[in-house]
Amino acid sequence: MSSIVRPIRPWHVAVLANVKGQTEVPSDVPDADAEFDSPRTIDAIMAAIALDGHQVTFVPGDARLPQALQELKPDICFNIVEGMYGDAREAQIPALLELLRIPYTASRVLTSAIALDKTITKRIWQSFGLPTAAFQLFVTGTESLQRDLRFPLFVKPAREGSGMGMDAGSIVYDESTLRSRVQYIIQRYQQPALVETYLSGREFTVGVLGRADAHRYSRLPDRYAADGFMRLPVSEVDSADSVTPGVYGAQLKVMDLFMPGQADFRCPASIDATLTAQLQQLAIDAHCAIGACDVSRVDIRLAADGTPTLIEINTLPGMAPDYSDLALIINAAQLSHADLVREILYLGASRYGMLG
Ligand SMILES: Nc1ncnc2c1ncn2[C@@H]1O[C@H](COP(=O)(O)OP(=O)(O)O)[C@@H](O)[C@H]1O
Ligand SMILES: [Mg+2]
Repeated sequence: MSSIVRPIRPWHVAVLANVKGQTEVPSDVPDADAEFDSPRTIDAIMAAIALDGHQVTFVPGDARLPQALQELKPDICFNIVEGMYGDAREAQIPALLELLRIPYTASRVLTSAIALDKTITKRIWQSFGLPTAAFQLFVTGTESLQRDLRFPLFVKPAREGSGMGMDAGSIVYDESTLRSRVQYIIQRYQQPALVETYLSGREFTVGVLGRADAHRYSRLPDRYAADGFMRLPVSEVDSADSVTPGVYGAQLKVMDLFMPGQADFRCPASIDATLTAQLQQLAIDAHCAIGACDVSRVDIRLAADGTPTLIEINTLPGMAPDYSDLALIINAAQLSHADLVREILYLGASRYGMLG
């Protein structure tokens, strides 16, 4: 394709991340390091970028970062910093990079803040007519229960990830259990509790990669559909017989893939072409509704009547090469982890005119 464009010169890429054991963890934030990356993940990302001919430097995503970046002056940052505290921790690095006017990959400030807040995200999806479970936000825990909520209900922190605060006890069948679970979440996580209809059907997670003009900047232009988005295989997680039955919660998210008590993962899921296409389109619509950029992973569950229903979107999906959901999806698509890294880098760089 003659319209494909490539970097004018090699870039200096800074990989920004919080790495387990290397970033100081605040003692007053529960599970603050739950989303930190392993050195293996960072090595894999750096190797993919270096092999493409760029210079690459790792910068830890903590309070030393502004000074480090001002000294380093990278052309672009490959950002996967989850952050540790605040109501929009995933938006902090994007905000800082915009202040310093340094290009970076994936979603920008506003979307990063929205995606971390599951309630705001659901309100936006509702306004686009996208299906998501009925819900109520409990700030004090004493609010009266909305009439449209029918048990069983599901209780979770309003803005966390990695299954934090979620196990089989998140599914509640009566009001007194609901109240005590809501109090537990508010107190432990120091944030409101989101209460939703429990979606009892099969669970899927769908990778989204692309943008309307992705063909032009991608290194793999033929892999994108006409609308600029890849149709990646849908992954199914079946937690029914796991240690947290019916919930893909924190305990499963840190367990080795083949340990007894782990959920079953199937990618591609054994579902027909119609449901596959429906789930892929729903994920793309959910991604576009909140203005996500280039990459995300969307969790979807079937409601009791079989309707695909949006749970949440991850605009910084886990990138561990051997076990994260997105890596398994990419692998099932016959792409490599390095392909994923380079697509995110190229799509990001193109937004700053860094490709010819
Ligand atoms: N409304 C719901 N109904 C049924 N299961 C849910 C619901 N919300 C969350 N879950 C379960 O809890 C898991 C984690 O919830 P999720 O909102 O995706 O949080 P996280 O950001 O930690 O991944 C989901 O993968 C799913 O198994
Ligand atoms: Mg999730």
